[in-house]
Amino acid sequence: MYFIDADRVRKVYAEGGRKHTVAIEELTLQVAENEFISIVGPSGCGKSTFLLLVAGLERVTDGRLLIEGQPVNGPDPLRSIVFQEYLLFPWKTVRGNIEFGLELKKIPKKKRRNISSEYIRLVGLTGFENRYPHELSGGMKQRVAIARALVNRPKVILLDEPFGSLDALTREGLQTELLRIWLEAKCTVIFVTHSISEAVYLSDKVAVMSKRPGRIKETVAIDLPRPRTRDVFISPEFREYERYLKEIVWEDL
Ligand SMILES: Nc1ncnc2c1ncn2[C@@H]1O[C@H](COP(=O)(O)OP(=O)(O)OP(=O)(O)O)[C@@H](O)[C@H]1O
Ligand SMILES: [Mg+2]
Repeated sequence: MYFIDADRVRKVYAEGGRKHTVAIEELTLQVAENEFISIVGPSGCGKSTFLLLVAGLERVTDGRLLIEGQPVNGPDPLRSIVFQEYLLFPWKTVRGNIEFGLELKKIPKKKRRNISSEYIRLVGLTGFENRYPHELSGGMKQRVAIARALVNRPKVILLDEPFGSLDALTREGLQTELLRIWLEAKCTVIFVTHSISEAVYLSDKVAVMSKRPGRIKETVAIDLPRPRTRDVFISPEFREYERYLKEIVWEDL
């Protein structure tokens, strides 16, 4: 049994009347527990849609989507999602944002504090607990969003171009941070990105989607040793993965 098992998944968005969009068709993908998988593919091919289906925020139209053998029937705190735009509560501090999910679960204040402090440390925000989102840089906001996603100890974390709006240096820093966080937090990651080199650097597997209606064209196992440092970017093996993946992606542009 696969941890996440998508079998010929189809997603049609109805938009009233006869108008509808087939976002995903015949999408088949398996993900193992604690695996880090990235999804790349042309704009509009259905990457975000797939994450929403796994999150349970959208319903599968046809096909089968199982997590630990169970069909996805709606959202679950064991699956959390981080979007490109930092969706933080502007009226809550860093700590308040991170503790939000714990408040919903009625976890008492003292325990909330301990848990949030742990995740604040994990994402490198110690000392910034009482700042508000408008007082943070883009990279820091995204760290808060990641901590907030991790605080319920999800088994699956879905990241939708989380570093897309950051400058190159901040992005590189956060990629390395994310690998460290993933190793420590031990969860399954599905990471959507437009950057093939980012996908190769981070992932155990990179799945390439076709243009809309999206399906998985090919899945490439990234056989580079871990822990990975940024030196890997200049290795011939890395370059070869990058070249090969670009070729597959470009067929659809
Ligand atoms: N709520 C919605 N209602 C109707 N159509 C939608 C909805 N959400 C997405 N779509 C359509 O479904 C298709 C896939 O969209 P999706 O956002 O999943 O693509 P994407 O691969 O994430 O694109 P990008 O790389 O630009 O983020 C697009 O044609 C989009 O217009
Ligand atoms: Mg998208």
